Amino acid sequence: MANMVNLTIDGIKVQVPEGSNLVDAAAIAGIHVPNLCYLTGIKPVGACRLCLVEVEGQKQPVIACNTKVKEGMVVNTKTDKVTELRKFVIDLIVSMHPLDCMTCTKAGICKLQEYAYELNVKESSFTRKTFGYAPDTANPLIMRDPDYCILCGRCVRICRQQDTNVLDFMGRGVGSKVTTAMDKPLQESGCTFCGSCLDVCPVNAIVEADRSRKGREWEYEKVASVCLLCGSSCDILISTKDDMVAKINSLGEDNSADKFICAYGRFGYDCLIDHNRVTSPMKKVDGKLVEISWNEAIDIAAKELKKASDNAGFISTAGITNEDAFALKRLAADIVKTKNIDTTVSLYGDKETILCSTADIDSADMFVVIDFDPSQWKRILAGVDATIRKKVNGGAKLVTINSSETALGSVATVELIGDPVETLKSFIKGIIDKGLSSTADLSSAVAGATVTEEIEKAATLFVSAKNPVVITCPAMYSAASNLALFKGAVLSVPIESNAKGVLLMGLTTEGKTYKEMVEGATKLLYVVGNVPVKIAPKVDFLIVQNSHLTELAKQADLVLPSATFWEDDGSIVDYLGNLKFICQAVEPPVEVMANTEIFENIAKAMGAEIEEVSDEELDKLTKYECKICFRPIVRKEGWDVKMDEMMELLNSPVINSTRLVWLKSVEQASV
Ligand code: SF4
Ligand code: SF4
Ligand code: SF4
Ligand code: FES
Repeated sequence: MANMVNLTIDGIKVQVPEGSNLVDAAAIAGIHVPNLCYLTGIKPVGACRLCLVEVEGQKQPVIACNTKVKEGMVVNTKTDKVTELRKFVIDLIVSMHPLDCMTCTKAGICKLQEYAYELNVKESSFTRKTFGYAPDTANPLIMRDPDYCILCGRCVRICRQQDTNVLDFMGRGVGSKVTTAMDKPLQESGCTFCGSCLDVCPVNAIVEADRSRKGREWEYEKVASVCLLCGSSCDILISTKDDMVAKINSLGEDNSADKFICAYGRFGYDCLIDHNRVTSPMKKVDGKLVEISWNEAIDIAAKELKKASDNAGFISTAGITNEDAFALKRLAADIVKTKNIDTTVSLYGDKETILCSTADIDSADMFVVIDFDPSQWKRILAGVDATIRKKVNGGAKLVTINSSETALGSVATVELIGDPVETLKSFIKGIIDKGLSSTADLSSAVAGATVTEEIEKAATLFVSAKNPVVITCPAMYSAASNLALFKGAVLSVPIESNAKGVLLMGLTTEGKTYKEMVEGATKLLYVVGNVPVKIAPKVDFLIVQNSHLTELAKQADLVLPSATFWEDDGSIVDYLGNLKFICQAVEPPVEVMANTEIFENIAKAMGAEIEEVSDEELDKLTKYECKICFRPIVRKEGWDVKMDEMMELLNSPVINSTRLVWLKSVEQASV
């Protein structure tokens, strides 16, 4: 635990961690120090001078964001002197800022508006100055308007910190401008359209391109939820108006540089009103899908499942909630009475490699990334990629071990390229040679490995690290987990958001496997959510439960329209083992039901009840044992799915939604 420092702020005695700055210390005391350029988690730059405070014993006010706390310090944040200085700063900024708060999209959330109101700055006392820079409106996702920019640099720093490095300042002084290399539009600048810059911009200089006249901030209902589109399981804040999603932002501490979501998480909600949405149950008649009532659909499903019984097969994605998984297991195992229940997780992992891992990322001072290639640019576990890069930019060391060059490897302290298993053996041997104690099994498993100069460098970093975190794919988890015998933690990251939850809820087959079922091993196949299958297996009856009419759904005998995660409640267990809650932001279309509701209705039609999952059951999901012991250093065979292909197939309705299709096409054109 960090050492604590005692100080007094505005007469309030407070104890804060050593090394805190005065903005954060004041926040702990419940006091807001006005600030425009500061972002928690990134080194302050002191650009705006708005956070001035007085410290007793010092002649001049100091900037709070860049002043560290000291034992016994007495700080005053609201004196006449600092109020006057702040008023001067806002007055100056306002002289160069459009005064159109009555129509501005950011009104109500704009920091400049908030401080101008507090300090009673209505018009500037300086001569008005405008630069007339053209806005960047050349894409349908993010709009940048330099005329509104107050040059706080938050966008530049957040983009740099997550390593996308798209934005920078051009020119000097008040006439400078935030721009891309060669002042090109975002889509020609390597921008991933994550929108992190948009989340931190305190004014109307960076906003969602479609926000104008789509509702003001105070008109929105806000719902905190989780993105279920990949294994990063990022926290999101959904703003809705008139039961429609108006925008999605990353969720986290206000002003924090830790927040991140990718373009899928931010803009993927377009698919809610996509033409491919299934809005009514359908059955196949003469080779064509025709709309039917829910009563008829449930009756057909119940009748066919009863008929198939232990010859029925169920497969699901792991993008469903724990509650869905629980109800699905009850329906399949206890009511239909089949053992053929599996998920897409079986394509890339199992209980041992997915459940036995957790880590404290916050305190990691080193990452070892093994046989794992996340990417913000390709939007493959983009949240995990951004997290690692932010930590590395904050000073953590990075060693990568991959069979070929990776984007993450290019920013590693040591990039090791070679067969991951053999390189890992050499790395472990290097660590043992440096004197870390090992078990007899581990020492003998790596006895013949060669330690090159590069491997020795990597081993030295590991030996000196206090809390190394190893991140790998499930196939390499067992091999990599041996590193935890020395110190730190080893984590495997699944492709899907609730891989842990579906396994913990028992969605693992005791009969036919996922692969066997998609090849037609059962008489009836019931498919829940998007699975990476385009051609229907030869089965007597195919049920597809999905929010969108996918290629597979088009070939089904029965289609059951299900709600998306933006329209449903529930919980998941994320890759770090945390229980996270999904909250309904909007109602699904009238004839669309939540996954669990569909399972319950089918159960009822079969004369049974599915009880609700209890809180105790959910609590248990975070209490699984993670055993650290020697495991053979081998890569598990049979789990060679390509992460990019799998992500694309699992999320096809989202990726092919209106604005993301545009993004995909410009990215493909630039390759
Ligand atoms: S959208 Fe993301 S990558 Fe693009 S400029 Fe903003 S922060 Fe950088
Ligand atoms: S665009 Fe926004 S975040 Fe970036 S420097 Fe300007 S005001 Fe600050
Ligand atoms: S990184 Fe994954 S979980 Fe995070 S916003 Fe993107 S798709 Fe969603
Ligand atoms: S917030 Fe401290 S100088 Fe800008």
